[in-house]
Amino acid sequence: MIVPSKLTELPAIITAPRTDPIYNCHSYLTKVPVAAIEPFIETFTRPGEVVADFFGGSGMTGLASVRLGRKAKLSDISALGRHIARGYATRVSPEDFTERAEEVVSQARKAIGSLYATRRVSDGAEVEMVRTVWSFTYLCPSCEAPLIYYRHLSSKGEAPKACPGCKHPFARRRWKRSADTPVEVVARNTEGRLTEQPVSGFDLHMIEEAAQDARQSEVPSLPITEDREMFSRSGLRKAGLIRTSDFFSPRNAIALLELWRAINKVGDPGLRQKLSFAFTAILPRASRRYQWSAQRPLNAQNQTYYIAPVYYEWNVFELFGRKVDAVLRSDEILFDNASLLCGRPEGKLDYCLASANLLAHLDSESVDYVFTDPPFGSNIFYSDMNLFHEAWLGEVTNYVSEAVVYTTGKRKNGAAERYEALLRSSFAEAFRILKPGRYMSVVFGNSSGRIWGLVQRAVRDAGFKSAPVHVAILDKGQRSVKGLNSGSESVVTVDLILTLQKPSPSQAERADDGHRLQSGDTQRLIAEAVRELSSDEVRNASHVYASILRRAIQEHCTLDELHLSDVLLALRRAGYTINPKTGLLSAEKHKEPQTELA
Ligand SMILES: C[S@@+](CC[C@H](N)C(=O)[O-])C[C@H]1O[C@@H](n2cnc3c(N)ncnc32)[C@H](O)[C@@H]1O
Repeated sequence: MIVPSKLTELPAIITAPRTDPIYNCHSYLTKVPVAAIEPFIETFTRPGEVVADFFGGSGMTGLASVRLGRKAKLSDISALGRHIARGYATRVSPEDFTERAEEVVSQARKAIGSLYATRRVSDGAEVEMVRTVWSFTYLCPSCEAPLIYYRHLSSKGEAPKACPGCKHPFARRRWKRSADTPVEVVARNTEGRLTEQPVSGFDLHMIEEAAQDARQSEVPSLPITEDREMFSRSGLRKAGLIRTSDFFSPRNAIALLELWRAINKVGDPGLRQKLSFAFTAILPRASRRYQWSAQRPLNAQNQTYYIAPVYYEWNVFELFGRKVDAVLRSDEILFDNASLLCGRPEGKLDYCLASANLLAHLDSESVDYVFTDPPFGSNIFYSDMNLFHEAWLGEVTNYVSEAVVYTTGKRKNGAAERYEALLRSSFAEAFRILKPGRYMSVVFGNSSGRIWGLVQRAVRDAGFKSAPVHVAILDKGQRSVKGLNSGSESVVTVDLILTLQKPSPSQAERADDGHRLQSGDTQRLIAEAVRELSSDEVRNASHVYASILRRAIQEHCTLDELHLSDVLLALRRAGYTINPKTGLLSAEKHKEPQTELA
């Protein structure tokens, strides 16, 4: 196989909104949606062939492969990733799953007794609370009066301005905190509709009872130690959050514990696996990381241990019931393919824990295609964030060989070199396992040209032809654009998918051309791209950056000097404005680029 016949049909921009039921069923950091992977599998493989992903994460490559009748060989260092992938791939009868889910919830409800009880204001009946809103409480440094953050928000939801007593200006980072305060309870009224009511003495009593419950010490928990990058990045010492169980309210900790116990008693291994998958899927929302907002809940930030000053304590059984429905919706799509009905997909999807630079489980030249999505430099610390879920699984990611650039602590020294070495040896392994003449697609996104240059050299040095056969822009929809304004901490919201070929022996002999890289004229590439922007093309700054990278790659230029921050600067100089909330470019004030950029 030299050039697949379907290559011309493979789109240059893959838009995969992250709203599909499979994607949303269980969160994992930086998932690539199944729908975005499928066109690649169809282009570069035939049914029955083997697809490998050695940064497998939550297993999306595996799911896309088995849906299309291919075999998947996944690996990662992430114990959580393997749990999620196996949960997705486990096929159960929807009826049995629903029935068993109801049973485990009813057992857990019985075991927690009246811990979730609240007294309904309208008729005094004892009902289960659906959620409680909690607020940080600060202490005024001047008069020591408590300031309950939620109670002093402006009508637009803005932070309090000053101490309500002595008018000392409020400063969130500098004021000390005392214990958080429950500020609002939501329960169902007699017609089943949700109603808000104030927190009563009865509610406070139930909260206290849960805090004193002896079972608190049995809640699965792991320490988040100081050597973890996310310990300092999330300010955990100051917040007093040093164990994963600290993120749960006393009531939710007990409810989760009893639900987990009931799930683990389920005899059928498939149903137990699927229920555990639904369980870990609710953990972020069942914790204090579930952010409150006046309009609608804001979800949990998966990439940090951040807790917002106003957060939810959401009834675990409500969350689990909704998740069971979400799993059923995801399964309906995942298992719609008739070919899967013959056997259980997990038979075609292998997932083992292994570092990408040591794929001992895969023979040389045994794989027909690689689709993989490595960690992007120092953006995300998977193993640190995995602890939150892994505390319940009893298995922890071995992070010794994690491909990530540390920016704090002792491991900061030589971190970039370690990351580069890991990527290099991983691509060398990819080269070894691939059959000659076959392809590897690599998803990558970073705002630093230095990291792009590193990836570019690593694939070339592994033996791949440095000129990709295809370069696609992967647009996963809106993401955080923190820092787009300053240009210094820029965040990319689109990734590239580079597809490279392992030369066949005859090609390898005359591969010299494809291996040579030249230093490109970065300023020219940027200026050209900005000049050529047409208003219907204008989306966000990351899109422009990705198109410049794509052009540079196609022109065989080195990427080291091509940074998103320079593109932002050029866009601003050309009169574009960047919406700090959405990252979208506005061309209204468009003017000619300044001469220095032309
Ligand atoms: C960008 S994520 C992949 C997400 C995946 N595409 C998905 O759909 O869920 C990168 C993955 O690389 C893994 N990883 C980091 N260092 C690794 C190593 N040395 N070997 C294997 N996997 C590693 C992380 O655990 C993480 O799951």
